[in-house]
Amino acid sequence: MAFKIRDGGVKNLLAAITAASLCLVISAADATPAQDRQNLINYFSAKFPSIPLDKYVYGALAFDPDAMSQYNSIMDFPPFGTTLDEAKQMWDTPFKNGKTYASCFPRGGKNIVGDYPYFDDQSAKVVTFEMAINACRVANGEPAYRYGDATTMGKLTAYARSLSDGMLMNIKVNGAAAQSAYDLGKKLFYARRGQLGFSCASCHVMGAGERYRSELLSPVIGQATHWPVFRGADSLVTLQARFAGCDKALRAQPFAIGGTEYNNLEYFYSYLSNGLPLHASVFRK
Ligand code: HEC
Repeated sequence: MAFKIRDGGVKNLLAAITAASLCLVISAADATPAQDRQNLINYFSAKFPSIPLDKYVYGALAFDPDAMSQYNSIMDFPPFGTTLDEAKQMWDTPFKNGKTYASCFPRGGKNIVGDYPYFDDQSAKVVTFEMAINACRVANGEPAYRYGDATTMGKLTAYARSLSDGMLMNIKVNGAAAQSAYDLGKKLFYARRGQLGFSCASCHVMGAGERYRSELLSPVIGQATHWPVFRGADSLVTLQARFAGCDKALRAQPFAIGGTEYNNLEYFYSYLSNGLPLHASVFRK
């Protein structure tokens, strides 16, 4: 992580958290997903009236015009262009049986990622886009990729996800089993974990828009729309790898990338970004 735990940072942040009297309303355990999303939008728009909802996809950049203009010039000529070319080649290269990834998905894989993750009633599990990629590989006689491997699964998704750029996030939570997977993700998000006693919400709800040490904190709404990211020049980080990075930073034991806990968390996260446009493979500090 690019930030270090320091007393000053912790104190400022705790002040912000204590000031957030709306916290209980935001995290009400019996709220529906639609209410959760609306409560958060209301909370953020009251706190940051000048930032329109569609800017939340830029995360912390939305609070920092200088960083935003730096982002725009980097995105004109991304330093990770070569990686994206290689990723496209991975996607286009046929399996040994002659079929391609495109054959596994509707519309050849275009405009589909906004429907992931979805809840599959038959397996009673959240299915991420990465799981669908592995299912495609296995169905075509190829070994599954490891979910945490940035050089295979991560890189492939840097192109595969970009085929859905512009699609709006469209996550559905239908039925009791789907609801309980969503609720587990939500519970994880609001649970105080790790040696510092923080929850994800401490920083990405109550702390959003504040500085934590030198870093501006992004709001949870919009955080699921733009993965993987390239940090610095060329370091590819997937959404779940970022979950693990933040868990480590708050000195909590991270969960397995691709495991049930982070899949449920991603389900909750993605629902909160419903209606916002996807844009894969963007620059982040
Ligand atoms: C102590 C504060 C802190 C806590 C607690 C924390 N994070 Fe973060 N997180 C950060 C910082 C700092 C960044 C980088 C700046 C930013 O984008 O918000 C970040 C970035 C992120 C991002 C990437 C945002 C983007 O657009 O690139 C995600 C996703 C994320 N955190 C998820 C989580 C999750 C899930 C948890 C709980 C397991 C969590 N964070 C807990 C500080 C925190």
